[in-house]
Amino acid sequence: MDFKIVGFAPDEMSHDSFLNIIRAPIKLESPRFAEQLEQFCQRCSYVSGHEGGEKSFDVLRTRLEQLGTGKKEQNRLFYMALPPSIFPSMQEGLKKHCYSKRGASRIIHRAFNGVFQIEKPFGHDLESSRELQRALDPNWREDEIFRVDHYLGKEVVNNLLVLRFGNEIFGAIWNARHIDSIEISITEAGGAEGRGSYFNGVGAIRDVMQNHLTQILALLTMERPRSFSADDLCAEKARVLDWMLPIEHLDTIIGQYGKSPDGNKPAFKDEEDVPNDSRCVTFCAAVGHIENERWAGVPFLLKAGKALNESLTEIKINFKPSTNATIFSTRALCSNTMTIRVQPSEGVFLRINTSVPSLTAQQTSAMDLDLTYHGREIPEAYEVLLLDALKGDEARSVRGDELDASWKIWTPLLHYLDDESAGVRPREYAYGSHGPEGLEEFIASHQRKSSEGSKQRNNMGK
Ligand code: BG6
Repeated sequence: MDFKIVGFAPDEMSHDSFLNIIRAPIKLESPRFAEQLEQFCQRCSYVSGHEGGEKSFDVLRTRLEQLGTGKKEQNRLFYMALPPSIFPSMQEGLKKHCYSKRGASRIIHRAFNGVFQIEKPFGHDLESSRELQRALDPNWREDEIFRVDHYLGKEVVNNLLVLRFGNEIFGAIWNARHIDSIEISITEAGGAEGRGSYFNGVGAIRDVMQNHLTQILALLTMERPRSFSADDLCAEKARVLDWMLPIEHLDTIIGQYGKSPDGNKPAFKDEEDVPNDSRCVTFCAAVGHIENERWAGVPFLLKAGKALNESLTEIKINFKPSTNATIFSTRALCSNTMTIRVQPSEGVFLRINTSVPSLTAQQTSAMDLDLTYHGREIPEAYEVLLLDALKGDEARSVRGDELDASWKIWTPLLHYLDDESAGVRPREYAYGSHGPEGLEEFIASHQRKSSEGSKQRNNMGK
């Protein structure tokens, strides 16, 4: 693929300083790698937009045209890692001045994860997300917009489609008749280190639940799409999210991390630029419901938090207890669970009951069928998504209607938590712990149906 990369920012910077920024974070693991990096740098250049306004866009356009001299076609991909305040004028300027007249133009819209300023750009709630969309509408067609959710580039998240729709055995039991509850969690051992100011304005729900977690949920619960084309996939995801009820605050437990018990790890409020009275949610567990025929009655436990005891992204599908439990007298059967581990150590595990070899009475034990990705090379999420954008494949991009549907689920809760007069304060939990006090009871109360069911049946087996 013949491509050139042009950096564009307000700073004045020499070509060499720009290349140094590119080189700095890259570890040169072999001489071959160093050679490849230099080849890559030869494709890169920088344009300063310090003059501001139309003039800067003109300078950028001139550079792009120079690079495309003599080419019949020139496709342009604008990758915008920007705070939302700048985003509307930027996309407008790019459309007006830099849209390719000889090929496709696309924009990528993603989180800006800098150290000083980190913003999630798809809005703050339903209304602001729609406002952003209204700014884009006159300039870009939906198929020119790539809203990046990097979780959609993760291998195991992609594998959900194959697991569900490529295996008859799973397809047949993927419903409320067989599934008791589903848990999806994104827990992180690290705190908001260095990103306190950003995180304080966003919180865990906007940071990962409204987007990454909700996308996983949609892939896990949607109906079979007609095809894996972007249109069919996004339509099914949006449809199932539409069936989901807004999360009720009574179905949540929220927390904010304090210091670690030994005092070595800081509290969230110790982060720079975080006020002492911050009510920012750094942990949230919520129970959601999808009121369609397939899922009615199944609780979805969604959990995300920072400064917890481990970093783990996992989906757990808890199947109903076996109706045959009564015939096994010696030992209670476990309920089947399917654990899909997104990270670390990607894998899929299926907990089943099996018999224990013995000369005496029949005994059963629980065992994991392990479908781990032993040693297989897994591409980075961003590699996958950038390549998609270059190819113009939108299947793993978030479409406007999905975004809208996911904000509808989370906005009432967010407004309730944001409202100072409601006086809701997150419960403090220790850095490195499992989360706030009361979490276990909260989870248990939402799974009561299942555990009571299995207890009852197990008693019958005695
Ligand atoms: C980002 C959030 O979108 O996702 C971060 O802004 C979070 O706060 C990160 O840490 C998690 O991504 P990953 O790939 O490390 O699980």
